[in-house]
Amino acid sequence: MNTNRRIMKKLLANYLYFQVNDSFRKRLNKYTRKAFQFLPQFENPKIIDIGCGTGVPTLELAKLSSGEILGIDINQFALNLFNRKIREKGLSDRVKTKLCSMFEMDFPDQSYDIIWSEGSIYKIGFLNGIKNWKRFLKVNGFLVVHDRIEGKQNDLKKVSTYGYEIVNKFELPKDVWWKEYFEPLEKELKKICLPLTDPEFIQEFEKIQGEIDFLKNNPTDCLSGFYIMQKNH
Ligand SMILES: C[S@@+](CC[C@H](N)C(=O)[O-])C[C@H]1O[C@@H](n2cnc3c(N)ncnc32)[C@H](O)[C@@H]1O
Repeated sequence: MNTNRRIMKKLLANYLYFQVNDSFRKRLNKYTRKAFQFLPQFENPKIIDIGCGTGVPTLELAKLSSGEILGIDINQFALNLFNRKIREKGLSDRVKTKLCSMFEMDFPDQSYDIIWSEGSIYKIGFLNGIKNWKRFLKVNGFLVVHDRIEGKQNDLKKVSTYGYEIVNKFELPKDVWWKEYFEPLEKELKKICLPLTDPEFIQEFEKIQGEIDFLKNNPTDCLSGFYIMQKNH
């Protein structure tokens, strides 16, 4: 198989996936709004969204605040889609993206009022993430993390030793990820997949279906919560 054709197929499969994913991911933005309400009023805050993907929550933050927002991610494909949305919404002056790993951030110390991260801190680990990212936050700045609740009871006990205070936290309703996101995502992907006969497409979509099946069988993996922390020294 010609390499270019293979890349084109992968890109198309990704494109289809992200378009579908975004339409359902938006349904969970009400929780992004709820978490944001726990922050004090900031005038033009500087915000970084770590692991922003296609920017669904990032764009919500842009609606909620008049600040400058940087979204970072390691997936250039997702960032391309996000950049297109930024242009279409006329937000290019204050919403930017950067291809950058959360493991290799080299921003100046104390450069952000708010660090936001939904669905991605697990890559570095909750405690490791809050520890490593702290230096980028201004004193009294806020770190808002949306993550799986598994293991959080223990992690949260240690937050103060890392120089943060928990300002608030809340869990999403138990079946919300399944009902609002994975179930409709699965239905939609089946519709897209059925007419596709190409083995490479089928393989791409089977990978996604495999992840959905895993969550169906392990529903506690879908339980998530927001953790709103303030850097206190
Ligand atoms: C589940 S998605 C969440 C995307 C977005 N925050 C949201 O809530 O819709 C996780 C994101 O983390 C990104 N990611 C994974 N490893 C990363 C890393 N080392 N540095 C930055 N982003 C990373 C992935 O590319 C993906 O876009």
